[in-house]
Amino acid sequence: MNKTIMQTTLPVLDFEQFAALSDEEAAPRIVAARERLGSKAVLLSHHYQRADVYRHADITGDSLKLARLAARTEAEFIVFCGVHFMAEVADILSRPEQTVILPDLAAGCSMADMANLAKVERCWRDLASVLGEPEKLVTPVTYINSAADLKAFCGEHGGIVCTSTNAPSIIDWALKRREKVLFFPDQHLGRWTGYKKGIPLEQMAVWNPDFENGGLTAEEIQRARILLWNGYCSVHQMFQAEHIRRWRAQHPEGLVISHPECNLDVCQASDYVGSTEFIIETVTAAPPNTRWLVGTELNLVNRLAEQMKPQGKAIQFMSPIVCMCSTMQRIDPQHLAWSLENLANGNVVNPIRVPAFDAERARTALLNMLETS
Ligand code: 13P
Ligand code: SF4
Repeated sequence: MNKTIMQTTLPVLDFEQFAALSDEEAAPRIVAARERLGSKAVLLSHHYQRADVYRHADITGDSLKLARLAARTEAEFIVFCGVHFMAEVADILSRPEQTVILPDLAAGCSMADMANLAKVERCWRDLASVLGEPEKLVTPVTYINSAADLKAFCGEHGGIVCTSTNAPSIIDWALKRREKVLFFPDQHLGRWTGYKKGIPLEQMAVWNPDFENGGLTAEEIQRARILLWNGYCSVHQMFQAEHIRRWRAQHPEGLVISHPECNLDVCQASDYVGSTEFIIETVTAAPPNTRWLVGTELNLVNRLAEQMKPQGKAIQFMSPIVCMCSTMQRIDPQHLAWSLENLANGNVVNPIRVPAFDAERARTALLNMLETS
């Protein structure tokens, strides 16, 4: 896949001069650069982005919605305010002549980094030594929060990608084809989804990639229907069922909504569990004057609380400790202004290009997902 590079007309602007801008100074420069770019650039933003970045977005969404819309946009440049794996997905699904830009390349996802190709390939070999040909027995399913080469691994081995929205239908797809699922990197999304499908907890074994056979006995591997990679999101591990119990004691009429990256106890104690988009839609559609406890990232919760105030809805963050996704915060107004001004000057900074070999196979796994959900 050949991605085009814009012809440069002016020298590349150094980030240093943008780093010195205040948030307030960066804002009008973002607006001005966007005006110069017009319909050539579209700005996508995940719901965890900080308010002073999010407000510039053309399109906001969860991972699934952003993947779908990145595949459909006509703009030549897709400026992605999110994290690295999201920009990779946009690059894989967009047309060859489109270019995806991540304003700060340091915006990664610590959970995505908990699995890598070498470890997944070793796991696959270990499974082969215990089960025989894993291709016949195990469907690899990667959460979209993973590097492109892991999506490529799934594409190559008859597997699929899932998001927090479509995990239930993807697990159905996977278990229809083969009797077991290898789910990586988020054990919590995998466990919650399996639990909702009625798979007993003892048939969901945690795979620790640092040990031979994932630290499991041959019998445990044979018994498992879902093998759960031992990754997790550190932001969502801050929420505890105890927070819910205490809040419910004070607000028995209140409703609790959580993201499925929370641990099983939290999901079980919640009234609703779903993606970031689902959380926003559910609370927005609720009757006026309702009270909510929300278990997901703070920027989203703060924004929702502000938006719901006129309807008398009280929205509270689940953890007593402030926890934000620090990597999402890497996209700040300064980096956004820097990448947009360069783009308006004809210079593409921070393009995301997945190597063609990975992109083609990862696309197979992503298209499996888009067709299924
Ligand atoms: P969503 O797809 O629900 O937006 O989740 C992405 C994510 O990284 C949550 O931590
Ligand atoms: Fe990754 Fe967690 Fe941040 Fe989501 S909140 S992008 S899973 S580190």
